Amino acid sequence: MRSFYLVCPLHFEDLVQQELKYKWPLHFPKDSYNILKADKGGVELECSLECGLLLNKILKIPGRIMLRVKKQKCRDLPKLFNIIKKINWKEYLRQENMEIEVTAKKSRLIHTTKIENTVLDALKAYFMANKIPQKKILCGAKPQKIYIRLFEDNLSISLDTSGELLHIRELNNYRGLASIRETYASALLLYLLGLKSYNKFTLLDPMCGSATFLYEAKNFFELNKRSFAFENWANLSLATLIDQDNPWSFSQLQGIDINNQVIQKQENSTIKITEGDLFKSQQNHNSIVILNPPYGKRIKIEGDLQVYFDSVVKHIQNGICPHAFGIIIPSAFAKKLKPHKRLKFNQNGIKVDFLVYLSARNK
Ligand SMILES: C[S@@+](CC[C@H](N)C(=O)[O-])C[C@H]1O[C@@H](n2cnc3c(N)ncnc32)[C@H](O)[C@@H]1O
Repeated sequence: MRSFYLVCPLHFEDLVQQELKYKWPLHFPKDSYNILKADKGGVELECSLECGLLLNKILKIPGRIMLRVKKQKCRDLPKLFNIIKKINWKEYLRQENMEIEVTAKKSRLIHTTKIENTVLDALKAYFMANKIPQKKILCGAKPQKIYIRLFEDNLSISLDTSGELLHIRELNNYRGLASIRETYASALLLYLLGLKSYNKFTLLDPMCGSATFLYEAKNFFELNKRSFAFENWANLSLATLIDQDNPWSFSQLQGIDINNQVIQKQENSTIKITEGDLFKSQQNHNSIVILNPPYGKRIKIEGDLQVYFDSVVKHIQNGICPHAFGIIIPSAFAKKLKPHKRLKFNQNGIKVDFLVYLSARNK
């Protein structure tokens, strides 16, 4: 068993576990995992090396997946040098091009540049003594990242298995001016929808921008199609994994945006995107609405922000009358609102609340 750390935004730890619990048996029916810890922006679990690496292809909510290589007490640089030099790096590395990320708190070793240089020296000494197996590195591959963390003299050494952050689904997606990260959109969809079926409903984003919520709802149960850092060193058969059926199975995925330049950039036959104004959108009892309105920073809003957000919520409730809806509102303006549930998180440095409302028929 190996230990993996799934990095996620603070307060999304439960959602990562829900996603894991649902998807794991579909992809790895013969294997199991144990959760070791879930808090402070991450979920630590124990499982086989192969399954842990393949989570990069399966999960939509974590932002990065790290493999713990070593955990040990360490109070001085000579000890750090020896620990690093003794690790069997041949198991993981096919290139000597490395990037080291150091964090050190409440430890005797605190000088991050000295720590980094010691790690690089120890790796150099390892490479002198051991020839690492050569493998053709994927085109455009970045240096392999190694994370060194020291907290209260406890050293943990982890290897990045993802490469680019996992919200990057495919490298040439169109992204709007104020688009939400794909990993966040997936987490909020799961928070709003759970794992029920919605085959009689339309999923509607009436301020859709680059339609991230709709693409994520469409792809949540499919595999991530891009490449990952672990593919540079692990010989795994990716063919064993297959896309899974989408239990949400909305009858339609529909986006509306007032800015027709945004709409022109989207070409997708399964997602219907039209030009329109949220405040003029029609009643649809058979819709589930999810949206991320402008916050007034990157996209300007005229007038009082509290009045604006209140009126967006009111229009969805009384104008569209959906079966349920979820909306992101900066926390400062979400305080007085009374949703059925709320999830607090940080979006590009702004404290926000995701508010979930259920219609009277749906309570
Ligand atoms: C924060 S962005 C949404 C980003 C989107 N969730 C994404 O991931 O790309 C807000 C969007 O609302 C649109 N918008 C602003 N006022 C609107 C209105 N009254 N009706 C419809 N769309 C509106 C803007 O054009 C912008 O694309």
